[in-house]
Amino acid sequence: MSVKKVFALVLHGGVHLAALLPLAWLFWAIPAGELGGDPVEELIHFLGLGALRLLLLSLLISPLLKSLKIAALFKLRRPLGLWAYTWASLHFFAWLALDLVFEWGLIGEEIIQRSYILLGFCLWLILSALALTSLPRLMRAMQSKWQKLHWWIYPAAIMGCIHFWWSLKSGWLEPAVYLLITLVLIGLRQQKLLRIFAR
Ligand code: HEM
Repeated sequence: MSVKKVFALVLHGGVHLAALLPLAWLFWAIPAGELGGDPVEELIHFLGLGALRLLLLSLLISPLLKSLKIAALFKLRRPLGLWAYTWASLHFFAWLALDLVFEWGLIGEEIIQRSYILLGFCLWLILSALALTSLPRLMRAMQSKWQKLHWWIYPAAIMGCIHFWWSLKSGWLEPAVYLLITLVLIGLRQQKLLRIFAR
């Protein structure tokens, strides 16, 4: 096996491990009481923050690819995006199952009445559409439509930061840092994004 292939495998394995190990840690941390006095709230926060970090990591790949010119990086975008979606779905599921114990009436009310929940839900729907259309076969079949659809990853990242900001009872510094990173990443891709829309 060539050095390039081994390097690509190591990168790929690293992404899967980085996304899986914190989830595996939860199986020990929850019964051991490591999540503090309100484990449900802590779990929802842990999963939400993980989803946002993975989303931003997936956006970092294209600028890195452009400056480092390491082709193996290209193949990390899809697993990172799918892991972001998995963490976001677990975050949503933890809220549905553990916080609102599947009380569908209450769930509907919360989604309609709380702006940050509605925003999180819209964001999850966008990520669902991106995950469902992420198959290479669909990418080829949809051509330029695929790029226009997947451009939504950028508004989704901004929505994630605003959802984070809105969900806080106090403080703004951490979500503001995430928002700044998102805007810088969008700025780095600005020309490519304008080209997609000029087509
Ligand atoms: C249907 C979808 C969603 C629902 C119902 C939802 C719900 C929530 C709730 C209840 C909280 C905690 C608020 C509190 O402190 O009481 C929260 C926080 C958060 N959510 Fe979501 N969310 C959704 C989607 C998402 C998605 C898709 C992402 C990211 C990609 C995300 C990222 C976050 C982040 C970063 C936090 C703050 C975590 C922290 O404070 O450490 N959420 N969300």
